[in-house]
Amino acid sequence: MPVITNIDDLKRLYQRRVPRMFYDYAESGSWTEQTFRENTSDFEDIRLRQRVAVDMTGRSTATQMVGQDVAMPVALAPVGLTGMQCADGEIKAARAAEAFGVPFTLSTMSINSIEEVAEATSAPFWFQLYTMKDQDYLSRLIERARAANCSALVITLDLQILGQRHRDLKNGLSAPPKLTIPTMMNLATKWRWGIGMLGAKRRDFGNIVGHVQGVSDPSSLMAWTGEQFDPSLDWDKIAKLKEQWGGKVILKGILDADDARMALKVGADAIVVSNHGGRQLDGALSSIRALPAILDAVGDKVEVHLDSGIRSGQDVLKAVAMGAKGTYIGRAFTYGLGAMGQAGVTRALEVIHKELDVSMALCGRRRVDELDRDILLVPEDFEGRWQ
Ligand code: GLV
Repeated sequence: MPVITNIDDLKRLYQRRVPRMFYDYAESGSWTEQTFRENTSDFEDIRLRQRVAVDMTGRSTATQMVGQDVAMPVALAPVGLTGMQCADGEIKAARAAEAFGVPFTLSTMSINSIEEVAEATSAPFWFQLYTMKDQDYLSRLIERARAANCSALVITLDLQILGQRHRDLKNGLSAPPKLTIPTMMNLATKWRWGIGMLGAKRRDFGNIVGHVQGVSDPSSLMAWTGEQFDPSLDWDKIAKLKEQWGGKVILKGILDADDARMALKVGADAIVVSNHGGRQLDGALSSIRALPAILDAVGDKVEVHLDSGIRSGQDVLKAVAMGAKGTYIGRAFTYGLGAMGQAGVTRALEVIHKELDVSMALCGRRRVDELDRDILLVPEDFEGRWQ
């Protein structure tokens, strides 16, 4: 068993064990990948204020997200095709999250279906919704999430149209992978992945295949999004979805204070400051840079969460000290899953938890509700002066 001390260790193992096509899918940003890069480099620009001689006994990272107890302010983000990173990937990730005491969010574009994940877990998970043109299908999807006892609906607002990630096009990304000669040559070196996949419950899009008609290539994310996603989604439709769901709603993909105000108006229980991991609008601000203005606009009225760029417990600390009530990890848990299955997701959570706990202590804080901007050293022009 390799000694894993940080998320990068998991990433290295992940790269070795998972087919190139799925590694590239997770590791890409759109176009030039500027936003993808800045999501992490902007976290590095923030420094921490070391404090000493503060009693650090009795520390806890526990808190709440949308009224739900969490072991730390971290949820597993919805990641499409998770079940292609590792056989039954969504089930394994959801089980790891449940055991750790953090929320798991199932993507609409998952491999394991809502029902399969519900059957394999006992804690309610969150369901991430993409809105589709087919209204009957959309209503059925919401009903399926309700029947599975999902405790929040996470509606993604920044993907009515898919951002271009060059490598997905070059690799011919699909689930299951199409057996071209380059793909077969690469798969031949990933025997551990292949053996797992032979026994997987499912190798296609479980929430979709068999539930909706009219897509030219059911194995292609690009085909699904292009042909089925609803490009006319607007705030009225979001308000109706909230009404239809009737439970907790988290609106994901907010990067602008005006949009944050609109989200508040439609009654979101939380918003996620997110640029979709740098996978949608290249050239957009990193999430951590966009966060302060959004907090100033709505932070006292709605719970503000953040994703995109979280790779360590120190990143969690910085986002929460800045004012976010919770964060999400997507790639960080995916590396663990591809590297070591469920144990790898657990390891990713343990690593992040330890980094968060120790950094909190060294900043002189014992509880999440004690984290504030006072522990951060933020460059003067961090938010930037834009015209
Ligand atoms: C889907 O959510 C993607 O970013 O590929």
